[in-house]
Amino acid sequence: MSILRKRMVALLLGLLAMTGEIDAEAGSSRYNADYFTNRPVVTHNGEKLRFYDDLIKDRIVVVSFIYTSCLDLCPLTTARLVEVQRRLAERGGTNISFVSLSVDPERDTPERLNAFADAFDVGSGWTFVTGMPEDMKVINHALGDRSRSLSEHRNEVVLGNDLTGEWARNSTFGDLERLVVDILAMDPEWRRTGRALSDRSMSREAVAGQISEQPGQALYKKLCAGCHTIGAGDRAGPDLLGATNRRDHDWLVSFIRSPDRQRATADPELAALVARFPGVRMPTLGLSDNDATDLVAYVDAVGSALFKEREQEALRNPSHDHGMAQPAAHHDHHDGATDPNSAHDHRDRGRGRARSSHHD
Ligand code: HEC
Repeated sequence: MSILRKRMVALLLGLLAMTGEIDAEAGSSRYNADYFTNRPVVTHNGEKLRFYDDLIKDRIVVVSFIYTSCLDLCPLTTARLVEVQRRLAERGGTNISFVSLSVDPERDTPERLNAFADAFDVGSGWTFVTGMPEDMKVINHALGDRSRSLSEHRNEVVLGNDLTGEWARNSTFGDLERLVVDILAMDPEWRRTGRALSDRSMSREAVAGQISEQPGQALYKKLCAGCHTIGAGDRAGPDLLGATNRRDHDWLVSFIRSPDRQRATADPELAALVARFPGVRMPTLGLSDNDATDLVAYVDAVGSALFKEREQEALRNPSHDHGMAQPAAHHDHHDGATDPNSAHDHRDRGRGRARSSHHD
């Protein structure tokens, strides 16, 4: 099967790029306890583990490199990996472990890692790892992370299957669907089923579909959807439904371009929002004015369509709408899917809208 062959070659090339050396014999991988070490580490739950035996051995793993004070790309990497984990689960890829290694162990205490994991609402099977700086350095080095400054870690992930000894680098910034398939393909069982073929043609369709999408949509999916929804509740960041009604256009464009600068201004509304999401900050993504304008237009278009849909729904089914608009003293961030108005300022407006539809 030439596709499979190509895939194997790609994996081997990845491996080569990672270490400059290949051990082609199955079952005699050099990526063992000696290579990765059993140095002691601590998880985001405060559990003390041995690195190789407890986190790598006999597993398929997706390893990322993070530090919790990172303000640009690592939160985005994590957000995109959360989406990857979701998609893997949908495809039965639940045997895959996620390991996020701190590259800033001096500051990244288990508590901080725990808050970070919480902020992103990661699924089970995901371990954030810190430890003594010397130990973490050895472990990060074994996984190919040789960068010296913190800001050099960002979007790279390492995929590995300890059972087969296959290891490869990948990135979270390409097509996510492709990454999902690459991860699934670490499992020989999955490769044998041939589902890789159909999934890949699916992903090509998805890419073709993106081209005809609205401006801003592809960018939104890639850079924003990991942390935000429009009308389906809070994730690592707030639900953006109604954001374009609350805030004026120029504010949104400059916030999306440089959230750090906006946060530095005295803006009580933004300060309240920041307080509501303590574990993560909106990252500065280096977007142009045009990109940000497209993104605002997209968020606005989806939001308006949703409001319209809900108004119609309310007209058709007033009693159901009434239930949804029940006042709630406390808002649980995670039930936003059934409570579209969870963004604080939006609540009254949302109810006002729903009610006004009875007058129409
Ligand atoms: C790593 C997670 C993350 C990513 C990625 C992210 N955001 Fe955010 N976003 C947040 C958080 C957290 C906040 C809350 C305010 C803050 O942290 O500055 C926020 C706030 C916002 C707000 C203000 C909402 C309001 O109600 O005032 C807008 C608008 C926004 N983000 C748009 C975007 C867009 C557009 C993108 C994609 C280019 C994006 N965000 C990417 C986490 C994220």
